Amino acid sequence: MKGFKDILPDEVGKWQLLEETAKNLLESFGYSQIRTPILEKTALFERGVGDATDIVEKEMYTFLDKSGESVTLRPEGTAGVARAFIENNLEASVFNKLYYIGPMFRYERPQKGRFRQFHQIGAECFGIRSPAIDAEIVYINKLLFEKLNIKGSLEINNIGCKSCRPAYSKALINYFETHKEYLCADCQKRLYKNPLRILDCKNEKCKIVAKQAPRLKDYVCENCQNHYNGVKEYLEVLNIEYVENDMLVRGLDYYTSFVFEFVDTITLSAGGRYDNLIADLGGSNICGVGFALGEERLIDIMNIESKNAIDIYIANLGVSSYALKILQILKHFPYSIYCEYDSKSLKSMLKKADRLNATVSIIVGEEEFKNNTCIVRNMKQSSQEIIKLNQIESTLKGVLYAT
Ligand code: HAM
Repeated sequence: MKGFKDILPDEVGKWQLLEETAKNLLESFGYSQIRTPILEKTALFERGVGDATDIVEKEMYTFLDKSGESVTLRPEGTAGVARAFIENNLEASVFNKLYYIGPMFRYERPQKGRFRQFHQIGAECFGIRSPAIDAEIVYINKLLFEKLNIKGSLEINNIGCKSCRPAYSKALINYFETHKEYLCADCQKRLYKNPLRILDCKNEKCKIVAKQAPRLKDYVCENCQNHYNGVKEYLEVLNIEYVENDMLVRGLDYYTSFVFEFVDTITLSAGGRYDNLIADLGGSNICGVGFALGEERLIDIMNIESKNAIDIYIANLGVSSYALKILQILKHFPYSIYCEYDSKSLKSMLKKADRLNATVSIIVGEEEFKNNTCIVRNMKQSSQEIIKLNQIESTLKGVLYAT
């Protein structure tokens, strides 16, 4: 299916490495994992992400369930985590720093780095007003990239809030109205509903018009400006380099004040502050800040060979009960073992052991079964020896720890 892909065993090593690294890092900062449903009521995203956004207008997988309720495959993680925070009264718990890993769905035009099912690793922190937490979120994101040897430049912006953005939107509408004929069809439609989005349209003509547009920084209120300045100061304390990009507007409506993206040739991760989301979803007046990264995009540039290696391959020449017995003995030890059951030639089995990157092959046939022995073959050195079954533990230790 277009935009959906299988993640095959030879790629899974990279996924596991990315997810393990993120999990360990986030937990080391006191973030706890949360797992929310993949399917949510459509209204959650209409209210949370915003009904004038591209995501809600065009990209959601929405359908009626059997009771006639409109439900949607989550297009992003923040709204669901915010809903869970409210519904489970996590405000009263110690769990205000949360992270998640999982699939998201957007009906977008598939291209490099853009899928219809993709995976995000994200973190959200609720209830901390200090700009220091925005800096912590950026810091975690940056550290994760460093651990994975990924370079991305940090772009930041201040996109204002409910009280200062309307005046800016008005100024934008006034400006773009006078240049309407140069805007692409999408931006002409967005003009009255979501004029900020015109600022990051990729169409060349829109870009030229947008260059001269009024800037949000001339409209932001004191609160937003103070918060944004605070984040910049903390980023400097942490020695985190950034570039201010006043065209960075983000595609989701919940943001207030500080927003950021880590960009390579495409955006690798993004986030920011959202002080009204919890209240907009029916919760109390609790602020939030977070980020999410696109796993496919990181894996594409992660320069790490992941080889699926196993420790032991059991080449079973028609003695499955004996092979199973050996498997059982070896399962007392922390080895990964691939055991063959259907009879094949020894040559083809050893070839397979090679392709599986096995360190050792244990070869057993009628002869070995009768004598209670097995052949232990060191795959790297192509040498082998016959041993008694009761020597198997010490022999394997010798070979496996020596390699
Ligand atoms: P977003 O910018 O929509 O933000 O997505 C975050 C990241 O997900 C992007 O930077 C990109 O790496 C990846 N991504 C998005 N769409 C696709 C796609 N179609 N295919 C592949 N990767 C994709 C959010 O989703 C916010 N919830 C982030 C956030 C968390 N803000 C605060 N907390």
